[in-house]
Amino acid sequence: MTLRLGSVTTIVASSPETAKEILHKHDQTFSGRSVPDAVSAQPNPEGTLAWTPGDQRWRNRRRICNTQMFNNQRLDSLQHLRHEKVGQLIAHIRKHCELGRPVDIGQLAFATSLNLVSNTIFSIDLVDQDFNSAQEFKDLVWRIMEDAGKPNLSDYFPILRPFDLQGVRRHILSSYRRMHEIFDDIIGTRLKARASDKMSRTGDFLDVLLDQCEEEGSDFNLQNIKPLILDLFIAGSDTSAITTEWAMAELLRKPHVMHKARNELVEIIGTRQSVKESDVDRLPYLQAVVKETLRLHPAAPLLLPYKAQNEVEVCGFTIPKDSKVFVNGWAIGRDERYWEDPFSFLPERFLGSKLDFRGQDFEYIPFGAGRRICTGLPLAVRMVHLMLASLIHSFNWKLPIGTNPHDIDMTEQFGVTLKKAIPVHAIPVVEE
Ligand code: HEM
Repeated sequence: MTLRLGSVTTIVASSPETAKEILHKHDQTFSGRSVPDAVSAQPNPEGTLAWTPGDQRWRNRRRICNTQMFNNQRLDSLQHLRHEKVGQLIAHIRKHCELGRPVDIGQLAFATSLNLVSNTIFSIDLVDQDFNSAQEFKDLVWRIMEDAGKPNLSDYFPILRPFDLQGVRRHILSSYRRMHEIFDDIIGTRLKARASDKMSRTGDFLDVLLDQCEEEGSDFNLQNIKPLILDLFIAGSDTSAITTEWAMAELLRKPHVMHKARNELVEIIGTRQSVKESDVDRLPYLQAVVKETLRLHPAAPLLLPYKAQNEVEVCGFTIPKDSKVFVNGWAIGRDERYWEDPFSFLPERFLGSKLDFRGQDFEYIPFGAGRRICTGLPLAVRMVHLMLASLIHSFNWKLPIGTNPHDIDMTEQFGVTLKKAIPVHAIPVVEE
């Protein structure tokens, strides 16, 4: 589909075949991004990972992320921190049990995701353990997501960019600057600790990046690691929280699926132990629930926008140079030619199936595919499974009195990420 949005030619690919042409066959042409004006307002935008051209510097940055940050060994070595954070989430929800009050699952999942990411990057919490809603860091991440997703005239008429007619650029800049200040403080403290004790290494992502900064001839320096860190927070926290909330909404709508997922957890883990990341391999039904959630509710429904570096022919159509190209992963996951009963939530369809979200199967691309597939996938998979499994394993969930499973509103709120328009509220119950 071609749309003329302002002066920008925009192409939307909505079938697995066109997605494959764009993300695989012509991946060189579509290796760069079309960058929203709001995103390019941040300090050192050339240091980001998600928004830079697919050049040598991007390749280097991605290589370090893949080999030194998102590899299994590193993620394993930091998993105790994530277990602790999810333990705090469960303890917090337990307090609600005593009062019989409903909780807002999306809000809690967002605060927890931020702390899971911040512990993986910095080994510290950035949101307080009481999940206080007036948290500065949480608000900043939220404001950036909102501003970056706002329809902006500057993106439809690039000639108007210098005027910033809606003030989006000015508004978002203050949030970016404040995030950089917070990172400056954390980096400064870490540098002091490293200088006073050469052996003191936590082995988290910040240590990896600071080690890179110290290497001779390295691309990394203390300025350009900040946009990269910022990218990880923005790309990693909302997406993981949204996925967890959609999964819970689907399970609450289908009590027999919830029951089956819970039974599997109790059977494999028992009732006394808490869930660990390493348990997930033994939980095929839970994995199927997460896969089915990502099929129906991909957190980034249009992936991130690509830009055609040159004119190219895709499936018999000419895509002009500089077009903005979206791949509609949402529509692809509901394509009737590939999915039986595509609108129903049926985790069973993934049991015994080799279909996977790692970018090989173009009818299922919630993390994208090709050279720009989600870098954080290995962490995302761990976080979402751990949060969801712990929520289901620790509590029996009930809907507020007067709400039937079928009444749960599944309306989507469209933005860069696809949220639930109406948050899910449910009452946690502990069985004695
Ligand atoms: C369920 C959770 C998540 C989902 C559904 C998701 C999905 C996606 C999608 C669809 C893209 C765009 C791929 C493309 O354009 O082809 C992307 C890119 C990206 N994601 Fe994720 N993501 C998730 C979690 C994470 C996490 C936890 C992190 C890191 C902490 C992360 C970091 C990134 C980065 C850095 C990019 C840009 C990659 C590049 O342009 O080279 N994501 N993600």
